[in-house]
Amino acid sequence: MAGDAIAYHETLAAGWTGRYASGGMRRRAEFFRASVLPRLQVGGDWLDVGCGSGVFTRMLAEAGARALGLDGSPAMVEAARSAGQGARFEVARVEDVGALDQSFDGAICLSVIEYLADPRAALTTIAGRLKPGGRLAISAPNRASTLRAAQRVARRFGAGRGLAYLDSSRHLWTKTELAQLARAAGLEVETILGFDPLAPRPLWPLISPSLWFLVARRPG
Ligand SMILES: C[S@@+](CC[C@H](N)C(=O)[O-])C[C@H]1O[C@@H](n2cnc3c(N)ncnc32)[C@H](O)[C@@H]1O
Repeated sequence: MAGDAIAYHETLAAGWTGRYASGGMRRRAEFFRASVLPRLQVGGDWLDVGCGSGVFTRMLAEAGARALGLDGSPAMVEAARSAGQGARFEVARVEDVGALDQSFDGAICLSVIEYLADPRAALTTIAGRLKPGGRLAISAPNRASTLRAAQRVARRFGAGRGLAYLDSSRHLWTKTELAQLARAAGLEVETILGFDPLAPRPLWPLISPSLWFLVARRPG
């Protein structure tokens, strides 16, 4: 049974930004900066849903946005606020986004939807807060990834703390399924990029990478 993702991340908040200093998390952030951010045409008001400690919210701000990060974990929001100026952070659940009295030029939601009971409802809610033409970038785990399948088996047989997030992660998508999810939320898919934090890039086509980055646009 999936655990409570917010409660799980609450326990990790103090060290979350530090995880981006090295290894797979750092490579993921660098991939986002180099390969995803340039496709978003960041500017105006941007939202980061499930922002964690705000690593990507601050990238939006550095790229020129007025950035607002939301997370259901008070400790994550506290960590985000204490990491510096440049972006605003509030405690809010994905389910609260529909109640915001503001629309946005764009949004990101990175490594969050796999933890939600209803990812389609979440994306529909976020898409509803975008201005016409506004972009949404999400990242989500790949159902077809060989490495992720091996990690799930290892976790089932008791492998350690580094894979504990798999206990709270409820969903996986193939590339086609993720595109269908975005379309069901009323979005036009612009691109889906594969990324793997562990395998060298030349191997990605062979193993099917762990993560998708999808960029979509609200029509209009
Ligand atoms: C894997 S972390 C990703 C954080 C950040 N996007 C990043 O990439 O560094 C998932 C985040 O989603 C948040 N989260 C999970 N379920 C949520 C919900 N229903 N509403 C708001 N935040 C949620 C967790 O608290 C956690 O900070």
